[in-house]
Amino acid sequence: MIDTPLTIALTKGRILEETLPLLEAADIRPLEDISKSRKLLFETNQKNVRLIVLRGSDVTTYVRYGTADLGIAGKDMLMEYGCESAEACGDQGIYEVLDLGIAKCQLMTAGRVNEAPIRDRRIKVATKFINVAKSYYAEKGVQADIIKLYGAMELAPIMGLADEIIDIVDTGNTLKANGLVPWDAIADISSRLIVNKASMKMKHAAIQSLIDKISSAL
Ligand code: PRP
Repeated sequence: MIDTPLTIALTKGRILEETLPLLEAADIRPLEDISKSRKLLFETNQKNVRLIVLRGSDVTTYVRYGTADLGIAGKDMLMEYGCESAEACGDQGIYEVLDLGIAKCQLMTAGRVNEAPIRDRRIKVATKFINVAKSYYAEKGVQADIIKLYGAMELAPIMGLADEIIDIVDTGNTLKANGLVPWDAIADISSRLIVNKASMKMKHAAIQSLIDKISSAL
């Protein structure tokens, strides 16, 4: 039995299906089917452990403020939040403790088929990863106007809103279906287990035991 109150932040969608078996390995099971419920807060078989279900981009925020002790978030979301390295993550009050190796994909630039990336003049880039984009093009010395979108990035180059996009690519089917091709890989992405720094200190035994159990299930 887990004797310390713990709140764990999860996201719905493809990550959830792969996350639940890992929690199960730590003997944590939600009392109802998360994927079939509209609820956002779930009790578990462990009376001290509850699960909250958030947008991927909000997991880091809940963990940073300690509202959630732990969270599972994509590396893409962590990078966008300023957690590209362990040190940077620490500055946000977060430890990235485990690469769960699930929900693997790549963060890439992409553009119209039969075209090459423009690198000799100012370009427009559509993405939801504003911070990642800014540092990526700055590092390359490319002048880029970053246009924030919340989804359907693949439409932007086709409609002439942008010269290229930065987005997650898994099978590549979405790019292909919209007349785009992948260009440069920015980072390999997978889901990570993150922990609030203060929680790690205050609830160390319970959290370390959970990390160990998940780690051996990987
Ligand atoms: C992601 C991403 C792409 C798609 C890539 O969107 O934004 O659109 O998946 O996957 P593929 O390479 O296998 O086609 P998702 O469906 O997760 O929805 P989102 O736009 O809400 O992030």
